[in-house]
Amino acid sequence: MCHDGIGGPDAGRTVPSRRAFSRFLLAGSGLAALAACSPAAPQDPAAGSGSATTTTPAASPSPSATAGASEAPVPDSTPAAVPGGTTAAGTAPSASAPGPQHSLSDPASQWVVVNKHRALSPAAFVPADLVRPRIRLSTSGEAALLNSTTAAAAESMFAAAAADGVTMTLASGYRSFTTQTATYGNWVRTQGQTKADTASARPGFSEHQTGWSFDIGDGSGAHSFQPEFANLPAAIWAKTSAHRFGFVVRYPWMFHDITGYWYEPWHLRFIGIEAATDMTTRGIATLEEYFGLEAAPSYL
Ligand code: DAL
Ligand code: ZN
Repeated sequence: MCHDGIGGPDAGRTVPSRRAFSRFLLAGSGLAALAACSPAAPQDPAAGSGSATTTTPAASPSPSATAGASEAPVPDSTPAAVPGGTTAAGTAPSASAPGPQHSLSDPASQWVVVNKHRALSPAAFVPADLVRPRIRLSTSGEAALLNSTTAAAAESMFAAAAADGVTMTLASGYRSFTTQTATYGNWVRTQGQTKADTASARPGFSEHQTGWSFDIGDGSGAHSFQPEFANLPAAIWAKTSAHRFGFVVRYPWMFHDITGYWYEPWHLRFIGIEAATDMTTRGIATLEEYFGLEAAPSYL
């Protein structure tokens, strides 16, 4: 389970101060290693589909998704999202935005949004195009797999990082429902459910099951899945450059009240070069805000 610290987004919608958050991270850094982005297992499908479905992201230069994304031409049976709507965070995401649209609910879509309000559907979803990217690995088995679009983007990104003298490894990629079940279960056993829910997704609620996300390491194993990883070259490079390859840091610092998870500087999510660049350029930190979805600090 990729994630960082402990503590809980659930705990109300209180956003702790940075100092309190730092103390929290320090105190819990030991736990992180445990869970860090590990595999998970899904729970029940149908659920979490909360709102939107297909949408047009934030305004501005509008994305026209390319990047070979597995475009899922929108046909969603669910109601259309409200582009530019106001999120629970009070941010008005972009409206307009021409360009191709992608489903926010189909797990095969590069824009699928999975969070504590939006379970994977079907819960047992398995990407049809899992492949092993030709990049440095610090994991094996199914965790070394990504969907083909994400794998290609990761290969380009890792090469660019290497050219800049930065080593990155794929520390945890795809996770089946079964794996996520084991991972989340381990967190609950060792840390209790409240803490587990701030770091590890419940089965059926993990992005890792879609093949669109993965966790990075730096090759040394230092601070893997721990808050301190944010200060290492691999994390710093990813934070500033990953958008050029279609990735965003999915669980940014201090946005747990929206994402439901503490800072995970190692967890990257592919959404396509245009959308990732648009988000970064406009300073929009979360997918929930970008797509105008409600905040998901805790399970419904
Ligand atoms: N650590 C992330 C939230 C996951 O388990 O998918
Ligand atoms: Zn992760």
